[in-house]
Amino acid sequence: MEQFKRNILITGGAGFIGSNLVRLFVNRYPEYRIVNLDVLTYAGNLENLKDVENRPNYVFVKADICDYERMAQIFAEYDIDGVIHLAAESHVDRSIKDPFTFARTNVMGTLSLLQAAKEQWKEEGRAYRFYHVSTDEVYGALQMDGTFFTEKTKYDPHSPYSASKASSDHFVRAFHDTYGLPTVISNCSNNYGPYQFPEKLIPLFINNIRHGRPLPVYGKGENVRDWLYVEDHARAIDVIFHNGKDGDTYNIGGFNEWKNIDLIKVMISVVDRLLGNPEGHSLGLITYVKDRAGHDLRYAIDSTKLHEELGWEPSLQFEEGIEKTVKWYLDHQEWMDRVTSGDYMAYYENMYKDR
Ligand code: NAD
Ligand code: TYD
Repeated sequence: MEQFKRNILITGGAGFIGSNLVRLFVNRYPEYRIVNLDVLTYAGNLENLKDVENRPNYVFVKADICDYERMAQIFAEYDIDGVIHLAAESHVDRSIKDPFTFARTNVMGTLSLLQAAKEQWKEEGRAYRFYHVSTDEVYGALQMDGTFFTEKTKYDPHSPYSASKASSDHFVRAFHDTYGLPTVISNCSNNYGPYQFPEKLIPLFINNIRHGRPLPVYGKGENVRDWLYVEDHARAIDVIFHNGKDGDTYNIGGFNEWKNIDLIKVMISVVDRLLGNPEGHSLGLITYVKDRAGHDLRYAIDSTKLHEELGWEPSLQFEEGIEKTVKWYLDHQEWMDRVTSGDYMAYYENMYKDR
């Protein structure tokens, strides 16, 4: 078997951020073997990785992170020495309807990976690293007062999603402090860009505007989110994976806050312009609906530490990022149609049916 310099397990690599990260690593590090481990829930789509699936340094393994025996077997089989853990249930609205699935995947799944790493990583002198990808939502909600989440902000999760991610972060730190596992955590703000499942605000609304469907704005549309282009998140993960300090935490964000309703108006304006509609054509689609239960008012990340210690900064201005994103979704209508119809679930079914 070909020898690789490192064998890196990326979990959740068929999802939104995971597929952007796998693409970056497969292209940038031909000397690493990238093992993409994903169980392919509704959010996992191997079509997102068609352009790299035949690369010699890429392997896909269909498996559930909650299956500890299988994780132990995969660590041994591929001689894994680095983990970048993204596999999770990630949508707040789903967590409100089904909190058990979130506890199972996000908490028990993370625990099973941590335990597999702890049991297998015993060779002296090897540079092991367990990188846990988390969210700013663990810090709770900010008021409209110009403050930010820093790495020292107290955890205060409100949704079952953020509670499950907070719990998984605690387990990661516990494995570092108790067993000396070489861990690192990052907490990132809201991502946007290509390959995001269209249940999240930006792809859902771009697709609805295109089809002239209502845009369901929760509450008054006054909640604030801090948006980062997904490829900038992937670059930050790369930097932290290679240069972050063991046991440390890094916040990732682009100092790019938007009130939902203002962001929605930007999306309407860009989609209308690109489709050749007159300015303001789709504004009438805005439909205020019942607010999300426990809806966090504002998220805003202070990523000064990451910038000062590791030199990372976002590469894209928001105007450029949203233009690229809208164009990508308009140009990939077939992807959108397969994802919204559910056809993507069968797309690779036969290829992996025996695994
Ligand atoms: P996503 O929902 O698009 O993808 C999640 C992936 O995990 C899917 O491919 C799914 O099939 C896989 N998965 C789910 N359960 C699994 C299991 N039991 N075993 C193996 N694979 C499983 O999520 P995303 O938006 O790409 O988020 C990835 C990670 O980044 C998550 O941990 C999330 O908490 C975190 N994060 C997301 C954002 C964001 O804005 N999307 C921001 C900060 C942090
Ligand atoms: P979302 O993309 O679900 O991310 P998160 O809840 O993790 O921040 O939602 C982003 C914001 O948009 C959030 O304040 C909820 C709001 N939202 C709507 O107003 N309508 C929608 O249909 C969706 C999906 C979200």
